[in-house]
Amino acid sequence: MSGLKFDFTNKLAIVTGGAQGIGFTITRQYLEAGASVSIWDYSEKALATAKAELSAFGDKVQTLQVDVTNRDSVAAATAALKAKPDILVNNAGITRDKSFAKMGADDWDAVISTNLTGLFNVTKNLLENFNSASNQKRIINISSVVGLYGNFGQTNYAAAKAGVIGMTKTWAKELGRKGFTVNAVAPGFIKTAMTNAMPAETLQQMSSKVPLQRLGETSDIANAVLFLSSDAASYINGTVISVDGGIVL
Ligand SMILES: NC(=O)c1ccc[n+]([C@@H]2O[C@H](COP(=O)([O-])OP(=O)(O)OC[C@H]3O[C@@H](n4cnc5c(N)ncnc54)[C@H](O)[C@@H]3O)[C@@H](O)[C@H]2O)c1
Repeated sequence: MSGLKFDFTNKLAIVTGGAQGIGFTITRQYLEAGASVSIWDYSEKALATAKAELSAFGDKVQTLQVDVTNRDSVAAATAALKAKPDILVNNAGITRDKSFAKMGADDWDAVISTNLTGLFNVTKNLLENFNSASNQKRIINISSVVGLYGNFGQTNYAAAKAGVIGMTKTWAKELGRKGFTVNAVAPGFIKTAMTNAMPAETLQQMSSKVPLQRLGETSDIANAVLFLSSDAASYINGTVISVDGGIVL
């Protein structure tokens, strides 16, 4: 469900990893609320599909092929923006799950460079390029419930997502006086293409661990992101909103 009504007319949002999954739903909801969106994603195929699916929004959508781990790529995307952004959603992320005993340095490096250093690269590059006329500048970082509580097989991912929370709180302190709020959203189990491909029995087991007895929808995350980026959340800074159906209780 996507019943929240916000007005982002004349705002530009950048959504990293916005070509599919949670990022795509965030992108769609911003567009439906009147924003323009620049999607930064490294998958050419996913970008092409997203562009086709969002064609009704015309030139309010910009798709840029960007690898958030590559600083030159991020700088080129910043230069290609059509306007100065008001909102940044650091959403791009990957998993390379293995027990710690089996996890290789390549698994560690890939996840840290995308899920942690990627946020540094993008935010560092954009910081001085935000819309200086706006005193409602927003940065929303997508963490994970795993960053708060850890998870078997996810040393790299949990470390990166916990790091995202540390970055969020630090930026909230440093950037508040510059007209930014900086917050994080920590999703639990969310239905995406990946979970849709899992056997029904596995999904049932996952759902049964959640007090609400269901997996989250990508729109559950997008609703929290839109709220945090709206004027209604102008005094919320440095917090982490868990959107997980209560799984960690
Ligand atoms: N799906 C879940 O259950 C869940 C739970 C907790 C947190 N999250 C987080 O939510 C975010 C989105 O997850 P999702 O499930 O939609 O994943 P997804 O794999 O469906 O989408 C991630 C997107 O990021 C892009 N991407 C990956 N690496 C990139 C890079 N280096 N540069 C640019 N783009 C890159 C991919 O191409 C893809 O379009 C991630 O940060 C993920 O860790 C997801």
